[in-house]
Amino acid sequence: IPVDPFDLVLFGATGDLARRKILPSLYRRFLAGQMPDTARVIGAARSELSNEEFRDLVREALAEFVSKAKTDKAAIDAFVAQCSYIAIDAKGDGGWSDLKQMVREDAIKAFYFSVAPSIFGALADKLRSHGIACDNSRLVVEKPFGTDLKTAKKLNADLAASFREDQIYRIDHFLGKETVQNLMAVRFANVLFEPLWNERYIDHVQITVAETVGVGGRGSYYDKSGAMRDMVQNHLMQLLCLTAMEPPAAFDPDRLRDEKLKVIRALDPVPLKDVVRGQYKSGPEPSYIEDAENADSKTESYIALKIGISNWRWKHTPFYLRTGKRLTKRMSEIVVQFKETPHSIFDRDDGSTANALTIRLQPDEGIDLSVTIKEPGPGGMRLTNVPLDMSFADALGADDAEMPDAYERLIMDVIRGNQTLFMRGDEVEAAWAWTDPIINAWEAQGDKPKQYPQGSSGPEEALALLLRDGRRWRDLED
Ligand code: BG6
Repeated sequence: IPVDPFDLVLFGATGDLARRKILPSLYRRFLAGQMPDTARVIGAARSELSNEEFRDLVREALAEFVSKAKTDKAAIDAFVAQCSYIAIDAKGDGGWSDLKQMVREDAIKAFYFSVAPSIFGALADKLRSHGIACDNSRLVVEKPFGTDLKTAKKLNADLAASFREDQIYRIDHFLGKETVQNLMAVRFANVLFEPLWNERYIDHVQITVAETVGVGGRGSYYDKSGAMRDMVQNHLMQLLCLTAMEPPAAFDPDRLRDEKLKVIRALDPVPLKDVVRGQYKSGPEPSYIEDAENADSKTESYIALKIGISNWRWKHTPFYLRTGKRLTKRMSEIVVQFKETPHSIFDRDDGSTANALTIRLQPDEGIDLSVTIKEPGPGGMRLTNVPLDMSFADALGADDAEMPDAYERLIMDVIRGNQTLFMRGDEVEAAWAWTDPIINAWEAQGDKPKQYPQGSSGPEEALALLLRDGRRWRDLED
């Protein structure tokens, strides 16, 4: 569906995220016919660049980050013709009155802060005080949204001084992933699952976000953050919320976010015995310590946690979360592991017959439900687990490369004014309120991460976290 004319002002337009994700996503939406000729992208950053120099930079970003099949010269020329540039001094007065001239009164105005959070407040203030932002302008901000509760509250307050909550779009790009939205469709558009979606039928839930990349190149940011702040507080927390929340009364931004908030508020504190932190050793690639350039670093590049949720639905169903860098495989999934049947009339020597619903985020996005059937053949009543597999690629005829990137969907949602897939301020604060005591506890104890080999599934201790409960992680190699 085409959208109305818009002016998207991209602060941090010369930065890494703009080059890797934001500009390529806009270009792909342009190719899909969603960016009208009347839409404009205004790059803003500190460097003094001409429009032409900025357009060259956009061209380079597209050449590097968009597949060759989609980069013909005519299309790129047409796209960059809609891009312009303004040099802006975030804290001083340079550029602001020119920017005011550039943005149109009658277009949708979106201001995208792809910059360090330390200047969010200053930028928001300038946009207001120069009369550039108005009551229906939209503001998009990137993570990290604070490093703890205190800093998140300060950021929320700084933005609230210039923008209303319903104008603020806090990006968590995991919410833009196709399968994450499909999780809601599966839960709330089918009658099959919801009656079983509780502690009576679900033994436990596993959420895994495994990556093969290390932190080289961004070690100085990462070393102050670690997997808990970089991944768990936001991305894994969102996955947990969508899995655990009550059905919202409507698919509407605030109804949905109210339900997610209730889940975060019901999370139990996590004792240190339920947390395993790791750091990758040197292997074919440098070690975490080398990537972070900090020989004494106690920051985790891997974390596994067992989390309890104190409400009626989930009281005795633990959620196990794990995420790490330099693991054996890039794989993200949510596994909802159902219980065994209460009484079996069959021989259980063949192992578990319990059903599992797997929601794969990447690679090969899709959903699969393992069911127990009889092994074919005359060998007697032997049972086996087989997948009822719905790979989106097969079912919908779209391959992975054609799936829109999370950013494409999220940017278009901003232009359409739909906040459903963005985090609300109180949600972010609640997530930090849960995260802070866990981090404080390991810092107070001087906890050191366990070393794990590159290309592995993480530290041994993470296996033990489930084994002691008589459970196992899904094998990353499967
Ligand atoms: C980012 C984290 O938010 O998400 C990175 O800062 C991480 O550390 C990335 O690698 C993962 O995103 P994706 O879309 O590649 O799974």
